[in-house]
Amino acid sequence: MQQHLQNPIFKVLANIADQTKTEIYVIGGFVRDLFLNRLSKDIDIVVVGNGIEFAEKVGMHLKTKVAVFKNFGTAMLKYNDLEIEFVGARKESYRSNSRKPIVENGTVEDDQLRRDFTINALAISLNSSNYGDLIDPFNGLEDLEQQLIRTPLDPTITFSDDPLRMMRAIRFATQLNFNIDESAIEAIKAQKERISIVSKERITDELNKIILAKTPSIGFNYLFDTGLLHLIFPQMAALYGVEIIKGKGHKDNFYHTLQVLDNICATTDDLWLRWAAILHDIAKPPTKRFEEGHGWTFHGHEDKGARMVPQIFAQLKLPLNEKMKFVQKLVQLHLRPIVLAQEKVTDSAVRRLLFEAGEEIESLMLLCNADITTKNEYKIKKYRNNFELVKQKLKDVEERDQLRNWQPPISGNDIMQTFGLDAGREVGILKNAIREAILEGEITNNYEEAFNFMLKKANELGLKPITR
Ligand code: CTP
Repeated sequence: MQQHLQNPIFKVLANIADQTKTEIYVIGGFVRDLFLNRLSKDIDIVVVGNGIEFAEKVGMHLKTKVAVFKNFGTAMLKYNDLEIEFVGARKESYRSNSRKPIVENGTVEDDQLRRDFTINALAISLNSSNYGDLIDPFNGLEDLEQQLIRTPLDPTITFSDDPLRMMRAIRFATQLNFNIDESAIEAIKAQKERISIVSKERITDELNKIILAKTPSIGFNYLFDTGLLHLIFPQMAALYGVEIIKGKGHKDNFYHTLQVLDNICATTDDLWLRWAAILHDIAKPPTKRFEEGHGWTFHGHEDKGARMVPQIFAQLKLPLNEKMKFVQKLVQLHLRPIVLAQEKVTDSAVRRLLFEAGEEIESLMLLCNADITTKNEYKIKKYRNNFELVKQKLKDVEERDQLRNWQPPISGNDIMQTFGLDAGREVGILKNAIREAILEGEITNNYEEAFNFMLKKANELGLKPITR
């Protein structure tokens, strides 16, 4: 293992451990990531004894500041680009948010036993007697090889100690594409309700990490199958299921949504665009109707979905800022390009789409492309071809008409001055008429044509320009 401890900091720590006769180990994510060939900048050191005291000695030697978190019994210092955290070996459970006193009189094995997963409980000795040796009493290395998330203790105890670990199990399984041990899954099912004692922010942190993984559906399937999803995000769980009336069913919107999400992940790393994929059909359950002669419909699910976005963001403690507005806009518009692609693609329809989507047009097109999940080869081909046509037209129209971030060529002020009007209904009518004429392609997007058009329209309304 020694070859893995190349950073000079490990020798520094080992020397201080030697001088002070303290037993110390590198532990947790850093060691796990060594075996996964990932370089981690966070180093956790477990000290058999007082973690804060040892950190202060290291700080003195390195002449660097030590941040002490008394409540947590931990201390942290920075060394170049590394963050090194020290903690005393604990006999009691690892509780990062507990206010109770921390019992620090454990051995390294006691400490490992109280960690979340065997792959996170690997330790490497920094002591002169066995420097560089891997300390792996719970077969974490084997689990890494078997790609298995398993708890060192009975999972019921591990999850009860800190229920956030139920989310962490699913998050690691998703990020690493590992399986979760069957008994751990059963333990999550059995105590899923305890997730309610964990703060919404920490739950959503884990959820976002799942969403940012390569294949988030892995995590959402676990969340759904264990019942956690129903508790933390019931609107998404409600997408599940197929109803059949008179022999007619609709698609399962939960699995459809997961497919759209995985699809979009292949084209973007943007968390918010991924959230838009999750939420695009969120209002399908509340808008679902069976209409005689038609079958299943979800009329207005895009409007209702857009209205649900702020409420869901608030519930999950996601930011209520421009990111939320972005997601809302995409949910609102998600049907538009595909409807276009199904019908005849006219210039005016494309102009309207560009006008409404503005800066978000590329994201919207990515979402719509990801939304094509039909298994019918003929339909896929037809949609994709039409979709390419929409994209081409968007490009042409954009170059010609410059409708992105559209500003009306004639402002309300121009109208008022030309006709000596005060702000009011007529100004609005004229402004709308000009915008519509541009979108319909009756006139092009420039001042002169718009001005002449305005004169004509005003004349119909009985308005005459004032002469100066
Ligand atoms: N840990 C734990 N229970 C928790 C959180 C953390 O047992 N609820 C332990 C694990 O041993 C973990 C270590 O503390 O490896 C550090 O936790 P953290 O920094 O949150 O995670 P990492 O494992 O480093 O992974 P990542 O950086 O991907 O979150």
